[in-house]
Amino acid sequence: MKRLGVNIDHIATLRNARGELHPDPLYAAKFVKKSGADSITIHLREDRRHIKDDDAKKICSLKKILVNLEISTNSKMINKALKIKPNFICLVPENRKEITTEGGLNLKKNKNKIKTIISKFKRKRIRTSLFINPSIKDIKTSYELGSDCVEIHTGKLSRLIKSKKNYFKEFHRIKKCSYIAKKIGLEVHAGHGLDYKTTQLLSRVNEIEEFNIGHYLIGESVFFGLSKVIKNFKKVIK
Ligand code: PXP
Repeated sequence: MKRLGVNIDHIATLRNARGELHPDPLYAAKFVKKSGADSITIHLREDRRHIKDDDAKKICSLKKILVNLEISTNSKMINKALKIKPNFICLVPENRKEITTEGGLNLKKNKNKIKTIISKFKRKRIRTSLFINPSIKDIKTSYELGSDCVEIHTGKLSRLIKSKKNYFKEFHRIKKCSYIAKKIGLEVHAGHGLDYKTTQLLSRVNEIEEFNIGHYLIGESVFFGLSKVIKNFKKVIK
């Protein structure tokens, strides 16, 4: 059974646009869970452009909700994450000027740093995932570094599909990486830029166990309601 993680960052984006308290990400986390999501994803960015420290603290303290915290490898962020203690952590690269996470982690450049971070999370029994591009080399490195999971960046695949370009090669790259990752003992997740069509296509990849979906899902909920859209995605990944 594949799982759906709902990224609620853009509930905070909407709240921050007005600088007041509504819509509340904490309420959203509870609502999303009630609507059938398997986990909640939040990205505490270094510039705090959407989720803020207080949101992360409150959401991670919810007892009955599994929370996946995305953070950069910056030491201040790591210390914060260790204090907040979410159920899961996904390490992501961060570049202040980007609109969204543009690519996977540079594992080659940050091997030792990431290995140390993973061991700190393991000591706190936090499941760790690395957000990587679909590359066999990065899959193998993730395993060597001690990660529990990999989240494969599906942004390129999504862009190709949306612009009606040939996506065959990229889809097969993801499929092959997922197969190898699972075979060597990593849990496979997928995320970034996913809509119904891309999620449906990726649902055919048996090894993918979790999807983390944000922007499109929240956008669709403006028209059809958050609960309905979550249920639709659950049907798509079934
Ligand atoms: N997974 C990771 C690791 C991400 O960084 C993001 C974006 O924050 C997502 C999933 C969700 O991407 P999207 O908002 O495009 O669905």
